[in-house]
Amino acid sequence: MSKTSPIIYLDHAAATPLSPVAKQAMEPFWAQDFFNPSSPYLPAKRVREAYEDAKNRLAHLIGAKGNDLVITAGATESINLAFTAASNCLILATEHDSVRAVASRIEHQEIAVNQYGLIDLEDFRAKLTPEVDFISIAMVNNELGAIQPFSQISEIIRQERQRRLGAGEPNPLFFHSDASQAFNLIDLNVSRLGVDLLTLNSAKVYGPKAVGALFIKSNVKLSPIQFGGGQERGLRAGTENVPGLIGFAAAAAEAKAHLKSNRQHYVELVDILKNQLQTAQIEPVFLGHPKHQLANFCPVSFPGLDAERLIFMLEEQGVCLSTGAACSASKGQKSHVLAAIGLSDTEIAGSLRITLGLTNDQVQIERAGALIAAAVNQERQRLSEPATKVQAPKAQADKQQSIKNQDPKTHGVNIQSTKKVAAA
Ligand SMILES: Cc1ncc(COP(=O)(O)O)c(C=O)c1O
Repeated sequence: MSKTSPIIYLDHAAATPLSPVAKQAMEPFWAQDFFNPSSPYLPAKRVREAYEDAKNRLAHLIGAKGNDLVITAGATESINLAFTAASNCLILATEHDSVRAVASRIEHQEIAVNQYGLIDLEDFRAKLTPEVDFISIAMVNNELGAIQPFSQISEIIRQERQRRLGAGEPNPLFFHSDASQAFNLIDLNVSRLGVDLLTLNSAKVYGPKAVGALFIKSNVKLSPIQFGGGQERGLRAGTENVPGLIGFAAAAAEAKAHLKSNRQHYVELVDILKNQLQTAQIEPVFLGHPKHQLANFCPVSFPGLDAERLIFMLEEQGVCLSTGAACSASKGQKSHVLAAIGLSDTEIAGSLRITLGLTNDQVQIERAGALIAAAVNQERQRLSEPATKVQAPKAQADKQQSIKNQDPKTHGVNIQSTKKVAAA
C-alpha cells in the first residue's frame, strides 16, 4: 500500500468511520461525565438524563418513543433478543449470518429470492402457514444492497393476521426486520413499515461500533438473553453504554438530515464507477436490481477470476474492498447470498462487493475504477498465458510498463506485480 496516498476505502457496508459530530457528542461521556446512570447523586442523574434524551432522539428518528427501544451491544445482540419471541420462523434466504444462526436453533424455513435478491412473494405466501409465528426480513441486504418491497410484505402479513383472527387461530405473527444497512440511506418509520421489531446498527451509520438497538412494539413479549441489574426494562442487563448511545443518536440524526443529498451523491459516484468499468472493456457483471438497490452499493462479478486475488492486488494499491459480508469473507466461505440469487460458483468466485461512503469523492472513485480495471486486465492476461511459463521479474516489469503505456483508460494507474500476489 502506498505510504504517501491515503487508502480508498470501498467497504462501507462492513464498517463506517465515526462521524466527527458523533465523536464530539460522545467526548464528555468518557472521562468528565463518566458516572453510572443508575447512581443516586446529581452528576449521575444528569448522565441518566443525557442517556434517556439520546434514546428518545434515536427513537424519534424511526417514529417511535424512547421506551420502545432497548439499547444493545450491536445488531447481532438486537437480533438475538428479537428472536426470543420466535418458535417457528421464516427468514429470507439472503439474511445476514446473525439472523441465520439464531433462526437455525428453532423451526425455520427460508424464503426464496429472485436473481436480484428480491423476495419471491409467491414463495413467501406459500410458506406462511398457520404454525409460523415470526418472520425476519432484512430491509436491505448487506451484499447486494437489495431493498425489499416492504409495503407488499407487510400487506401479506396483515392478510394472514386477519385470516387467523377470522379463523379463531390464536397463534401470534411477529414481523422483525434487520435494518442494519438501511438506516443510513432510508427514512425508516416503524408504523409505515408495519414491523413489530426493528434492529438498528450504529456501526453502519457512522456511529460507534458495538452499539445497536431493538425497537419493540408494545404487543411483543421478549425474554432477556442476559441477566443482571435489570437495565433496559430487564431485557438487556448491564451498565448502559452512555457514550455509545449518545454517539449512535448523533450519527443517526446526521444521516437522516442528509439522506437525500447523500443518496444523490452515491448515485452519481456509482454511475461514474459503472461507466468506467464498462468502458474499460473488462466485462463486469453488475449484480442486483438497478432500481431496488441501496444507492451506495455496486456489487460486481468478473466471472472466471478469483476475487480474493483481485482484493489482494488492489489492497497493494491502496484500495480496500471485499468479496462479501466481512464475517463470511474472513472465514473464506462461499457467499450464501450470491448462491441464493442463482450465481454459478465461477461467478461467485469472481465477485467483489463495492460499497461507497462519505470517505469517497469523484477523484477517488475514478482512481479506484482505473485500478480495478487494471487489476482485472492483469489477471485475465495472467490466466491466458500458459500455466508453466514463468516470467523473469524483469521481463514482467517491462511488460507491465508497456501495458501502462498502451492503455489510455488507466488514468496513469498500473497494478504492480508483487511477490505476494505472484506467489498466491
Ligand atoms: C445486515 C447486517 N445485519 C447484522 C449485522 C451484524 O452487526 P454487528 O456485527 O454490529 O452485530 C451486520 C454487520 O455486518 C449486517 O450487515
